[in-house]
Amino acid sequence: MRLRSSFGSRVRYAIKLSRQLLAEARAVGEIGRLVNQHPHLAGLEQRMLAYRGELAATRGSYTRDVSSDAMALSLQTAALVASLTELLKPARALDLGSGYSSFVTRSVGATECWSVDDSPEWLERTVGLLASRGLSTEHCLHWEEFEARSGERFDLVVHDLGDVRQGPAKHASQALRETAFPAVLDAVSPRGWLVIDDIHISGYRQRCRRLLEARGFSVFRLTRETIDSHGRYAWLAFREEE
Ligand SMILES: C[S@@+](CC[C@H](N)C(=O)[O-])C[C@H]1O[C@@H](n2cnc3c(N)ncnc32)[C@H](O)[C@@H]1O
Repeated sequence: MRLRSSFGSRVRYAIKLSRQLLAEARAVGEIGRLVNQHPHLAGLEQRMLAYRGELAATRGSYTRDVSSDAMALSLQTAALVASLTELLKPARALDLGSGYSSFVTRSVGATECWSVDDSPEWLERTVGLLASRGLSTEHCLHWEEFEARSGERFDLVVHDLGDVRQGPAKHASQALRETAFPAVLDAVSPRGWLVIDDIHISGYRQRCRRLLEARGFSVFRLTRETIDSHGRYAWLAFREEE
């Protein structure tokens, strides 16, 4: 009888302990795991909060005068990109799907930034935006031109290429988000970082995840930190040494 009750209390203790551990793990969350593995990203969450304030005005005018709230990088993901640019100091940054994201990488100050678009019209608008803000318009190129120059590698890549709005027919720009993904992974340097926007789309998310794992990337699901009012969010991936 005593044996049974001592076994029961051990089971209850084990359950209580695992619940506590689970709660602690949830509290630390993905950003905690990210910073534990990459201590040079300490302060990322605080920088993201600060950038949400700092970027609100420029993003507001961009979505009002040039694009739209649903198409431009969300304020939350823009804050992630700005914070990573500041903390990682990438020598080369690549912004796939140009627009407000181009302003962010170039204004925070990656040493060399490339901005790529599959739409010549939107690329032209990006060049106009950068020029109007006194930023460099170097390395603004069409996706086909970029693809033709295989072998370019970047320390920070933002993948927001192609129009992911769901419609009755999947036009070329919608499909591009996913078809471009293997080439996007190729463009990330060893020990480089990739921000994958619009990963809330479930089929896309699952297929990206499988490919990321197969190609040896670690994934940090920054859902809580980047989710916006449209339900969009981004994940961060790190390419291990080859
Ligand atoms: C998700 S958007 C990329 C947004 C970009 N990263 C930014 O921060 O503004 C993907 C593509 O849609 C096109 N695009 C951008 N704004 C658009 C708009 N308001 N309406 C239609 N297409 C747009 C551009 O070709 C762009 O590369």
